[in-house]
Amino acid sequence: MKLLKEKVMTEGIVLSNQVLKVDSFLNHQMDPELMREIGGEFARRFAGEKITKVLTIESSGIAPAIMTALELKVPMIFARKHKSLTLKDDILVEKVYSFTKRETNEITVSKKFLSPSDRVLIIDDFLANGEAAFGLARIVEQVGASVAGIGIVIEKSFQPGARLLEEAGYRVDSLVRVAALEDGVVTFVEEPN
Ligand code: G4P
Repeated sequence: MKLLKEKVMTEGIVLSNQVLKVDSFLNHQMDPELMREIGGEFARRFAGEKITKVLTIESSGIAPAIMTALELKVPMIFARKHKSLTLKDDILVEKVYSFTKRETNEITVSKKFLSPSDRVLIIDDFLANGEAAFGLARIVEQVGASVAGIGIVIEKSFQPGARLLEEAGYRVDSLVRVAALEDGVVTFVEEPN
């Protein structure tokens, strides 16, 4: 996606060989125009998949997920990382380990928002090791619903998440794929025209 690639090139900051900072448009300040384009692009890519729900994880997944759900005309659900005061019983829970943060979070979704007939599109802002996406997929599968695909805004292709998810049989569609973050420079995976 051209506009997103340009944003990454002009505003992305390479913090290390592993981490790209994009807090001016995705992770802190958010760019609404860009989010609208992202939502439109995911909706186009998954148009034939009969999606009934979009699922993401708080917090940075929410903006791209809601714009995608708006385009697809379906509800969006976000998994919570912290226990909600009102969300007590009938919850789906999965453990998600973050290699980046070296901590395990329990993510939760209320059972009432997913049913076995749902075809769920998982959306997230970053794909690194795939732990968050796998956790969301397990939540969907707990209720007997199916994962129609996984849409990622920025995939770090030098980390194993995309490969592991594809090997597990999921369709992964990333808008931008980063091949390397070296010497302060972002290199993209060559995309066929
Ligand atoms: P994984 O789910 O693919 O295994 O990723 P990992 O545990 O490594 O990521 C943990 C958090 O760090 C996630 O956000 C993820 O989006 C983010 N992250 C991973 N790599 C990068 C990167 O290169 N740059 C940036 N900016 N973020 C990265 P989170 O903690 O859930 O944050 P938020 O959604 O609340 O903002």
